[in-house]
Amino acid sequence: MNSTLTPPKSKLWWNEPVEKSELIWISIVFVWGLVMSFMMPYWHVTGNQNLSNETYKTTPERFMSKAQSFVDEYTVRNEGPRNYPVVKPPPGGDVYMVARLWDFWPIVELEKDQTYRFHLSSMDWQHGFSLQPANINIQVLPKYEHVFTLTPNSAGEYSVICNEYCGIGHHMMIGKILVVE
Ligand code: CUA
Repeated sequence: MNSTLTPPKSKLWWNEPVEKSELIWISIVFVWGLVMSFMMPYWHVTGNQNLSNETYKTTPERFMSKAQSFVDEYTVRNEGPRNYPVVKPPPGGDVYMVARLWDFWPIVELEKDQTYRFHLSSMDWQHGFSLQPANINIQVLPKYEHVFTLTPNSAGEYSVICNEYCGIGHHMMIGKILVVE
């Protein structure tokens, strides 16, 4: 009886025929791997499994100036402990959110059932955009502008959590998106 705990009886173990049960397992794993490889694009189309997002080159300065214009134009009030602007873009408009050590800026207020173009970038390190509790996840990198389409389908207050470790303040990096009727 061979086992992984004892050394092989024959020194030339690589010349021995492969055990039948092992061949069956290798076949099952190979076929399952093919099935799952096929399911990735299939679920993308039929199950909204992966986000269809676009990515463009940018710089922190260029992205910040677009975000600043967005804030200057559409801020409706300020709130929270840091007195952050709450920005309400017109329905169907563009939304800018800046990720940086260690927060998301600004707070965004959207209307339910309206579709927005959401723009994301980082000012410094790699961050993660994790929309809770909807469980949308996007990696946010400096010098890249990530754009996706967002249609909030229920009103409420949503948190944006950073889910890429970004240093000592990582656990405090929380943003806010408000959805109103
Ligand atoms: Cu930003 Cu972790």
